[in-house]
Amino acid sequence: MYKTDYPKGFKDGFLWGGATAANQVEGGWNLDGKGMTTAEVIRKSEKRTEMNLGSVTMKAIEEAMADTTTDHYPKRRGIDFYHNYKEDIKLFAEMGFKSYRMSMAWARIFPNGNETEPNEAGLAFYDRVFDELAKYDIEPVVTLSHYEMPLDLTIKQNGWASRDTITSFTRYTDVVLKRFRDKVRYWLTFNEINVSSFGFMETGAVDSELTEKEQLQIRYQAVHHQFIASALVVEQARKINPNFEVGCMLARMQTYPSTPNPADVRAAQENDNLNLFFTDVQVRGEYPEYMNRYFRENDVHISMEPGDEAILKMGTVSYLSFSYYMSMVTSAGKTGDTSLGNMINGEKNPYLETSDWGWQIDPVGLRITLNAMWDRYRVPLFIVENGIGALDKLGADGKVHDDYRIKYLEEHIIQMKEAVMDGVDLMGYTMWGCIDLISASTSEMSKRYGFIYVDQDDDGNGSLKRYKKDSFDWYKQVIEANGQNI
Ligand code: BG6
Repeated sequence: MYKTDYPKGFKDGFLWGGATAANQVEGGWNLDGKGMTTAEVIRKSEKRTEMNLGSVTMKAIEEAMADTTTDHYPKRRGIDFYHNYKEDIKLFAEMGFKSYRMSMAWARIFPNGNETEPNEAGLAFYDRVFDELAKYDIEPVVTLSHYEMPLDLTIKQNGWASRDTITSFTRYTDVVLKRFRDKVRYWLTFNEINVSSFGFMETGAVDSELTEKEQLQIRYQAVHHQFIASALVVEQARKINPNFEVGCMLARMQTYPSTPNPADVRAAQENDNLNLFFTDVQVRGEYPEYMNRYFRENDVHISMEPGDEAILKMGTVSYLSFSYYMSMVTSAGKTGDTSLGNMINGEKNPYLETSDWGWQIDPVGLRITLNAMWDRYRVPLFIVENGIGALDKLGADGKVHDDYRIKYLEEHIIQMKEAVMDGVDLMGYTMWGCIDLISASTSEMSKRYGFIYVDQDDDGNGSLKRYKKDSFDWYKQVIEANGQNI
């Protein structure tokens, strides 16, 4: 006899919602005692498809610090969530959000990163945001570090390249975990921790003038410090509130081989391992042997202190969250036509269509990766980012007809459901950029992801008025039906 209690769809209490990050929405960059952040010195890209993950120099930072406008640094202005949070949360509630993934700006709490006392005005802002979410029973999912840190930590200790940054970070996390003990249950330590392999945006370490070899060394050392910091946060959280759930967050890049040639299959596996290495450490609590070998063969020396291995073992996360936008293709030898992608270029996949920004759209890849990660880790999974950046047009009728977004999301949700029916334990889905925001990689406004259109252009002109797109009502129905309508 077959069992009758098999999973037929998303579980009760599934955390449907949306996601944003402080540096892409808040604005209010110099208000109420907030310090300058690393995100606020990354200049807007000149071309639409030119990603800037922060290949900054100290000279560029000095120039940015001397510039007190938001003109070249749109992350300073965001979409003014700082003043509009009530209106925005009300719209999220209207869609029926069960959860809202957001991040906290560390520099609102510790403006320079190393003060002995936190900035009360910064804490009070997040109190107001959490209270507003509670009004609508929306569960906050809070990322402690999403592509930003107090700039002073870069200037004084080169960001995560320094071990001292662990102490600066855990001082901040101790304060916020205690302060929001009863307001937040779900925490994430580092957004897309694997993006540290691309430098400044995630590591806060200035290294763009170093050789590739030196960069590799500095970036993986920074990652080690983040691993330790993340594990220590897990320990703090356990002591402060046993009900806390602390997760990790990976920019998942499922890699396919370009052909069935075993050499290509192996190359794809190797590429995939470089991505899964991060969750291997954070979920399993130790460096995998394939990575120790990679370090050996690439002359990378991770400096560890006695006790680090025990910290990693003790501080494993209770759930694994990830972003998923696209898949990758790789081959052993020649590289074919390249395709742009979330933080990294891969080969072109002839079977897939691309977004306006050249990202390859692959809903089935989401099911593949959900199944593979569940098999590998057996911890609850949470999709905390998925969505499509598009050139939306606001019509004279005040509407945005974003059927392409509905199609993209629907196709991905169908695959999520398939994975759930395969037995994957999926906690929730927070669509990325539920309200239009500043792009992480290009700092554009015109790369829009939201269910809610925000009237602002790339130069910061516009009324900042919010408009519902067609996808707004569509998502509302999906949440109402717990995904059973698609
Ligand atoms: C993820 C980041 O990589 O992708 C987000 O966590 C980011 O911060 C999102 O916004 C989409 O990338 P982009 O560059 O289109 O904003």
